[in-house]
Amino acid sequence: FPRAGVIGNPVSHSLSPKLHGHWLRRYGIDGSYDALPVTEDALERTLRSLPAQGYVGVNVTLPHKVAVLQIADQLTDRATLIGAANTLTFKEDGRIFADNTDGYGFIENLHQGAPSWDAKAGPAVVFGAGGAARAVIMSLIEAGAPEIILTNRTRPKAEALRADFGARIRIVDWVQAGSVLADAATLVNTTSLGMTGGQEFRVPLDALRAGTVVTDIVYTPLRTKFLDAAAEKGCVTVDGLGMLLHQGVPGFERWFGKRPEVDDDLRRAVL
Ligand code: ATR
Repeated sequence: FPRAGVIGNPVSHSLSPKLHGHWLRRYGIDGSYDALPVTEDALERTLRSLPAQGYVGVNVTLPHKVAVLQIADQLTDRATLIGAANTLTFKEDGRIFADNTDGYGFIENLHQGAPSWDAKAGPAVVFGAGGAARAVIMSLIEAGAPEIILTNRTRPKAEALRADFGARIRIVDWVQAGSVLADAATLVNTTSLGMTGGQEFRVPLDALRAGTVVTDIVYTPLRTKFLDAAAEKGCVTVDGLGMLLHQGVPGFERWFGKRPEVDDDLRRAVL
């Protein structure tokens, strides 16, 4: 039977085994999905040895999402541009095909959580310029956002992102983050602010227009203060768990031959 899994270090916190395990049971598929702890030293050796053990592919989590690009034999344009991969598929001839489905998960989550959302409706404001922001920004550009207003505590990281993704990105200083919100059709927090146990999110959201679609990639807690503040302004809010669930869809379909559903049952199963 086909095997898949997730590689990371550590990997015990990953929700992917619950996610794919739920889908395997729900569709009655004879397959498995394991958490595979792999150190950086052992990364290439492990990846090359997995196909012989029946693996058809793996998800990749921290800290390996960038390093796997050097090992893979074939990359999608998305993975190349984002500079990271989260979904590997092993071809029958042993070649490793690397893709990044985070942007896909991000967009699908918005469509499902806010059915009237349209990237083309106006500028998207993005807080943060780390790894997650790269996938978010690329997918917003692909979806037709007319402008990306990007703000990050460390401005050179935002500038590096604009160098990669082009002129549709306008950079605003982090201290001014609150002042660009009136223009936003979409607002995304990609920073780690607001995560359980971490620092609080302090950017004032008073300028947000009612009807702006607001999403957070933080999903612990599921309802962040950022989302609560946006909801108070009359915004449509979408939590970040769905991005994680949707990013798993393309891999599951490639590995197990069934396009899985993301619904409330699944949300309950992974939490
Ligand atoms: P990820 O892969 O989840 O994006 P990351 O690459 O470490 O993680 O990026 C974390 C993001 O949260 C960055 O945009 C970071 O800002 P810096 O580039 O200035 O580091 C942002 N972030 C983390 N802590 C922050 C804080 N206390 N204030 C503002 N931004 C913060």
